[in-house]
Amino acid sequence: MTQDELKTLVGQAALAYVEDGSIVGVGTGSTVNKFIDALGTIKHRIAGAVSSSVASTDRLQALGIQVFDATEVDELGVYIDGADEIDHAGNMVKGGGAALTREKIVAAQSRRFVCIADESKLVKALGAFPLPVEVIPMAAKRIARQFEALGGTVTLRQKDGAPLVTDNGQHILDVTGLKIEDPLAFETQVSQWPGVVTVGVFAFQKAQVCLLGTETGVKTLVF
Ligand code: 5RP
Repeated sequence: MTQDELKTLVGQAALAYVEDGSIVGVGTGSTVNKFIDALGTIKHRIAGAVSSSVASTDRLQALGIQVFDATEVDELGVYIDGADEIDHAGNMVKGGGAALTREKIVAAQSRRFVCIADESKLVKALGAFPLPVEVIPMAAKRIARQFEALGGTVTLRQKDGAPLVTDNGQHILDVTGLKIEDPLAFETQVSQWPGVVTVGVFAFQKAQVCLLGTETGVKTLVF
């Protein structure tokens, strides 16, 4: 099976976690796009969605799914999103699609995080994928130096020859060379640096379930 087929498989499998009449938390990325397409087939059974990005909102609305603002909803039953890396405890690195801040917000508003991913995303320890960090531009250089002091190498994410601007009007640093041995401690530490909007380690908002697309079908990991 191709990686794209594995993404389709887990996107469809995630429908099992959607309750009739509910508002669903929806993440961002190519795997989530498969889930959104699957959600379109049962749109009459749900009340709508809370979305984590402009891109996902556009896709949901194009399928006729109502998108609510996060502030209109108290608590969501389930949040479904992909990951750049997930470890065997459900901790993740996210933000490859630059949507990490809204993803963390919607995840925090949800009782359960169901991660959908192909098996290439499952890792022993986080840190091989460049860690995305959303930052306020005036703090970017100092935050880069703080990561360099931890042994990291930092790149300011670009789009069309200019720094990428997120849905929140901020920039993204991608950091390689870090050892993230204790994801919870790492997330706690970096989140406190002035100018960091969101660090792409999801340990406080880790997954409770991962639907992993493998050659032999969907494996369900429960954390
Ligand atoms: C976006 C994300 C995505 O969930 C992550 O990048 C995985 O994306 P894909 O499903 O395209 O591999 O965190 O900010």
